[in-house]
Amino acid sequence: MTAIELDRLTLRRGERTVLAGVDATIDEGEFIGVFGPNGSGKTSLLQALLGLLRPAAGAIRLFGRPPMHGSPICGYLPQRRSALADLRLRGWDIVASAVNGYRWGLPILGAEGRREVAWALATVEADELARRPIQQLSGGEVQRLLLAQALLGKPRLLLLDEPLISLDPHYQQSVVELVKRVQRTLGMTVLFTAHEINPLLGAMDRVLYLGHGRAMLGTVDEVMTSEVLSRLYDTPIDVLHVKGRIIVVAAHGEVEADAHRHDA
Ligand SMILES: Nc1ncnc2c1ncn2[C@@H]1O[C@H](COP(=O)(O)OP(=O)(O)OP(=O)(O)O)[C@@H](O)[C@H]1O
Ligand SMILES: [Mg+2]
Repeated sequence: MTAIELDRLTLRRGERTVLAGVDATIDEGEFIGVFGPNGSGKTSLLQALLGLLRPAAGAIRLFGRPPMHGSPICGYLPQRRSALADLRLRGWDIVASAVNGYRWGLPILGAEGRREVAWALATVEADELARRPIQQLSGGEVQRLLLAQALLGKPRLLLLDEPLISLDPHYQQSVVELVKRVQRTLGMTVLFTAHEINPLLGAMDRVLYLGHGRAMLGTVDEVMTSEVLSRLYDTPIDVLHVKGRIIVVAAHGEVEADAHRHDA
């Protein structure tokens, strides 16, 4: 079944056209890595899938229907995480605060809500983290709890916006493996944005590369070539394979490393 269909999708932010007439079809159960430099529209695309940003032209269909804000079809881990209001809260509270639309209050959950939270925590193996105050948790541990939050309600489509940011390489790998395992077990479709392709190489079915309002969707071998990326960015780009890693180099420097520096 088709999970996501972008049909000549145009997205605008104010005066800026972020995506211009993009076509793409993603199947149910695919794990898609979404890449592209800062400002290329990764977050905007996820927000459009969530029904938070309306297409300026063209259409989006999720399992055959237009996106609807608040639909339980999508689970979302936003790039900008809300400030954790009260550091004395326990991990459990972070996850539970999202049940039934609760946000950062102290939720009072019924038995069903508690079961759902317990399931999400068990799925990401965070039972022990859930008992500790948030101020004692590392960035990566908090990330794991936010992933549990995104899993509430067993969404068919998981939208993860930069879940690897500020994690060390070892923890990055463990987050990727965790998402992969959850995706396999639950048969979810995953869109996972990142600035570096290498941590995701073993997990992705295909990549979606954004740039200059356009998009390239294909396997790593199809998309990560000098020809395809040079065409996408209208500038000479080299794609190097070094010891199983992919390094993208543009005339003005290393594309992905530049994006990283910008982020920091
Ligand atoms: N709320 C907004 N209002 C106006 N312009 C916006 C808004 N949000 C994003 N933009 C602009 O839209 C463009 C795409 O932004 P978007 O956040 O989708 O990019 P991105 O690929 O997620 O970038 P990053 O890698 O930095 O997260 C940027 O030029 C940005 O300045
Ligand atoms: Mg973004």
